[in-house]
Amino acid sequence: MSEFLEHYSLEKRNSFGLKVSCRYFFEATNLPDLLTYMQIGLKPDSRFMLLGEGSNILFTSDYAGTIICPALKGIDVTQENKDYVMVKARAGENWDKFVEYCVERNWSGLENLSLIPGTVGSSPVQNIGAYGVEAKDTIREVEGFFIESGEHKTFNNAECQFAYRNSIFKHELKNRFVITSVSFLLKKKPNFNIAYGPVETEFRKKPVQDLAALRQTIIEIRESKLPDPSKLGNAGSFFKNPILSNPDFSALKSLFPEIPSYPSGDQFTKIPAAWLIEQAGWKGVREGNIGTYPSQPLVIVNYGGASGKEIHDFAKKIKTSVADKFGVELEMEVNLI
Ligand code: FAD
Ligand code: EPU
Repeated sequence: MSEFLEHYSLEKRNSFGLKVSCRYFFEATNLPDLLTYMQIGLKPDSRFMLLGEGSNILFTSDYAGTIICPALKGIDVTQENKDYVMVKARAGENWDKFVEYCVERNWSGLENLSLIPGTVGSSPVQNIGAYGVEAKDTIREVEGFFIESGEHKTFNNAECQFAYRNSIFKHELKNRFVITSVSFLLKKKPNFNIAYGPVETEFRKKPVQDLAALRQTIIEIRESKLPDPSKLGNAGSFFKNPILSNPDFSALKSLFPEIPSYPSGDQFTKIPAAWLIEQAGWKGVREGNIGTYPSQPLVIVNYGGASGKEIHDFAKKIKTSVADKFGVELEMEVNLI
């Protein structure tokens, strides 16, 4: 049942575990309630934001407006032939449970994205990615409605303007369009994507047998590297990996020959922010209740009791150090509220 609450604690609704609250909180479990609330319940000038599971959000204070959770549930096969299945999941489904559902049915395409926190509805927003795969590789349709008019629209893959940790929903349509479902085209004949360094290393030891084994390997790699937000507050990578033009990268490489890099199309090069942060002296650094995670300095953790503002200030210091040492501007991946 949909719920409307006042002065609601968001502590369990943000993966940093920050003790913040919002003035109003509306969780819609069905589409008519969601549409009605956004069209009638929400006053034209009211402040509001959409929330999934809060795993990519940093609240720097209590939220004075309304938080809206599209908690719509359901998974359906909408098309099928002998090679492919089109599967549509509602926005409020938990992402990893959805991946597990697909892997159990031997539908291939999402297994490398195992254990990423969050909802299905958020997956297109920053085009989630891991281990050589991005959500855009399998997303065929994103459905939802414009908040202002209530008009329904189905975006095809090209219209989503997907890029590295980016889409039309993260910028132009932020807080203007509510995603209600996402459709993925998955293969019935498994296609194992094991090219990413640590995945390949694991599979040289133990060759890939089935999707479930690949999913399990991804889970183990992630658990060995990333903190579990239920134990240590964090939002995954705090910054994006910077992408430089090839000439800018060559200039940087002449100063720091050991810098790791990956091609990003023909004209750009991606560099690991974790390396820049480690080289700038921030790996495993702890200041009070905040620190970089010892095995992955791109992840900022709340050791308990930190405020969002303190986390933001800590991140700004890292950003300044990296800019001073390398001349590279880190861009936040996390949504700052
Ligand atoms: P939220 O944080 O609640 O919201 C994110 C954004 O989406 C907000 O701007 C929100 O307004 C918007 N939004 C939410 N729902 C809707 C909707 N229905 N319609 C329109 N807009 C909406 N990300 C990766 O890409 N790869 C990783 O490997 C990865 N690893 C992570 C590991 C950890 C331990 C953690 C904590 C995070 C990680 N992340 C990763 C980041 C995070 O999991 C993803 O960004 C995820 O998609 C966020 O989902 P969410 O539901 O929690 O979104
Ligand atoms: N590195 C260091 N020091 C470290 C850790 C890493 O120098 O302590 C360098 C190494 O060169 C390493 C490289 O960073 O090879 C990459 O590290 P890793 O494989 O851990 O990946 P990442 O680039 O740090 C990205 C995503 C993750 C995603 C992983 C796996 C971004 C911003 N982050 O991290 O996504 O899970 O790859 O594909 O693109 C997220 O977005 O929240 C997230 C966790």
